[in-house]
Amino acid sequence: MVDIDLAAWGDDFVADPYPYYAKLRDAGPVHEVVHQNGMPFWMLVGHEEARAALADPRFSKDWRANGEWDWETSAVNANMLESDPPHHTRLRKLVVREFTPRRIEQLAPRIQQITDELLDAMLAAPGGPADLVDALAFPLPMTVICELLGVPDLDRDSFRKWSNEIVAPTGPDAEGEAGAAMAAYLVELIEDKRCSPGDDLMSALIRTVHEDGDRLSPDELVGMAFLLLVAGHETTVNLIANGVRALLDHPGQLAALRADLSLIDNAVEEMLRYDGPVEGATFRFTREPVPVAGSVIPARATVLVALAAADRDPDKYADPDRFDIQRETQGHLAFGHGIHYCLGAPLARMEGRIAVRSLLERCPDLALDPDRAPYDWIPGMLMRGVRRLPVRW
Ligand code: HEM
Repeated sequence: MVDIDLAAWGDDFVADPYPYYAKLRDAGPVHEVVHQNGMPFWMLVGHEEARAALADPRFSKDWRANGEWDWETSAVNANMLESDPPHHTRLRKLVVREFTPRRIEQLAPRIQQITDELLDAMLAAPGGPADLVDALAFPLPMTVICELLGVPDLDRDSFRKWSNEIVAPTGPDAEGEAGAAMAAYLVELIEDKRCSPGDDLMSALIRTVHEDGDRLSPDELVGMAFLLLVAGHETTVNLIANGVRALLDHPGQLAALRADLSLIDNAVEEMLRYDGPVEGATFRFTREPVPVAGSVIPARATVLVALAAADRDPDKYADPDRFDIQRETQGHLAFGHGIHYCLGAPLARMEGRIAVRSLLERCPDLALDPDRAPYDWIPGMLMRGVRRLPVRW
């Protein structure tokens, strides 16, 4: 029986989903739900059940192979996050070397330099205000992932528009159009790169196709570029913005971090646990009936693992709604779990630490802009964050 219609929860649920998740968790770890767009699905809200499902091969990521879904598909869908082994293993192996903690450590000086330049520009207007998303949280990860891939001249405005639409759709037609426009743009971008290769990840991936034609198809190349660029566009921006918002909303925690900036590593983990950028993991699909905590999710069902709900589970974290930069955060699911665990986690952590630390060092009087408009929350259940974060200093 379908018992919950998310549309009925309205904008309150988007602005602050945590009380709703708490009520659901109190009622049980798994629920049948109807999405705001009318689609029925199953939602996991308990930490233990969420973690188990993320590592369970009975929950597939390859909706093309598993379901009766007639969703529109384009080259962008040929990516590792929408694949199961062995496809997934093969795609991930091609790029995993570039994202190891050791490799990412080498990027630290460049990430610091980009951060310093962005802060120089933002702080040129004494006292502000500025939109922290536009000034720092968005351009930092964007510049880093574009440089890493070797596409520094990416058309950021168009890409941001399509990317926003894909992760937080305003309607099925607009979403399909954005996916197609992005795929067409990426085909062109890859063609340009093929003509003028460099010492970068995209050129290396293109060479893989040339040397061994059956290893990375043209669609898979588009899918890879899509996934890495969209991850660069949509996630770390909200780690920085949600994290700074949490600090500014909790002056005691902000003071503790200012007093001892060596707490930054754990503070970033708590930002991820408390109000992480990815509210719900991408959809999974049951290959067979799966019993979960006394219910049975039938075969061919759509399943959403609510990471934000799991990371506030009181059975896992004491007093979970308290933002505490010194708490034990181990086991949070903000980067997922299992074979699809976030490839970019070391990079995102590094960017988050450098951005927040540098911001605090350079702005001793950082505060939310008292004249700001009400927050514009990102819609949908995939991303969690605000479109703008006006601050003063
Ligand atoms: C704070 C920032 C980030 C967060 C919170 C985050 C979160 C996640 C989560 C939750 C997943 C798993 C989704 C699922 O299982 O349905 C994931 C997967 C992934 N992320 Fe991230 N991500 C972040 C930054 C990045 C960055 C900067 C990159 C760029 C390299 C990236 C690349 C990926 C890729 C390629 C996958 C798919 C991995 C696979 O399917 O094996 N992420 N991320």
